[in-house]
Amino acid sequence: MSTLITNIAELMTQDLEHRVLKDAAVVIEGERISWIGAAADAPAADDAVDAGGRAMLPGWVDSHTHLLFAGDRTAEFEARMAGESYSAGGIAVTMNATRATADFDLTRLALGRVAEAVSQGTTYLETKTGYGLDVDHEARSARIGSTVADQVTFLGAHLVPAGQDADDYTDLVCGPMLAAVRPYVQWADVFCEEGAFTAEQSRRVLLACRDAGLGLRVHGNQLGEGAGVQLAVELGAASVDHVNYLAAQDVKALAGSWSGWDPATGAGERGTVATVLPACDLSIRQPLAPARALLDAGVQVALASNCNPGTSYTSSMAFCVTTAVLQMNLSVHEAVRAATYGGALALHKEAGRDADGERAVGSIAVGHRADLHLLNAPSATHLAYRPGMPLTYAVWRAGARAR
Ligand code: NIG
Repeated sequence: MSTLITNIAELMTQDLEHRVLKDAAVVIEGERISWIGAAADAPAADDAVDAGGRAMLPGWVDSHTHLLFAGDRTAEFEARMAGESYSAGGIAVTMNATRATADFDLTRLALGRVAEAVSQGTTYLETKTGYGLDVDHEARSARIGSTVADQVTFLGAHLVPAGQDADDYTDLVCGPMLAAVRPYVQWADVFCEEGAFTAEQSRRVLLACRDAGLGLRVHGNQLGEGAGVQLAVELGAASVDHVNYLAAQDVKALAGSWSGWDPATGAGERGTVATVLPACDLSIRQPLAPARALLDAGVQVALASNCNPGTSYTSSMAFCVTTAVLQMNLSVHEAVRAATYGGALALHKEAGRDADGERAVGSIAVGHRADLHLLNAPSATHLAYRPGMPLTYAVWRAGARAR
């Protein structure tokens, strides 16, 4: 079954050539994109959709979410808006609520959040464990996560539960907990920050997880300068996320990690993506991450929602893109790229990479997964020009109409 989507006013491909086509068309065959080009040259297909002069982008790739939770942290948010500062301790509130929730209900909650994201144009997403924090509950979160998200990250090292010795808990994460989650996850992460895990504990977790065959990610430099970025680069992590407080040597290390990779071809060894999370920065009243400086230094940047109950209770990638343009000085093209191709790069699913047999996401190119986002606007510029407006008009996820 093939579908021709025609009369696309602006097709922002986010492919390796950064092409933006005017008066364009796309053909979907099954779950893949089989043709793109000028509408006037489009081949016939079984079915046709008139895009009505709207703009099309790749579906958002949300490379950082925490959707496996129950409970509510409104009170903590209100306290923060009244002047209190964020601390990692709030994670325990969500841990208690999540542990107390039955499998069926936790699955339903997570699926509801995925549906909310997809209805706003997200077509590929990662999610993390990290609100179970014992062997059984982390394994349960990993198992449920594998049924609701495209990729799952093990974040047993999110917080040391009250009353436990930090080093003993780190041993638990590196041993029985890792073994229990391993069948369900692709990645491991650690919250390397004061109040969470020290550099030494973080290193232990990351090395154990790498030995177990997992790819690495790091929550780093969120609340202050620290070891997160350096550790992520040293251990070859796919991304370091937050990156609000960076020293000059952190930016240099991130940029250096990309020296063996060619952005024009996507060939070579990937470095460590800097994932910025502007909705979180706003929600905890932190300085926005220096995305402009990172891009200028040659770092590959991803934008993600960080949807979670403590620091960023939104899955709106459009909000993140708008903020990146209006407040972080990215162009619309750069912000959309970070929220599509950048996210795919952070998840090792970008254009031109198909090692696991699945289709690449995050850009519109022949052979890639047909993850498409049609805006109710003639150009992507409207994402920043009309902040807060519900601009998602239609969504295709793996070739199927999802909205
Ligand atoms: O990415 N920073 C650590 N983890 C989450 C927040 C988790 C929470 O407070 O519940 C984040 O912001």
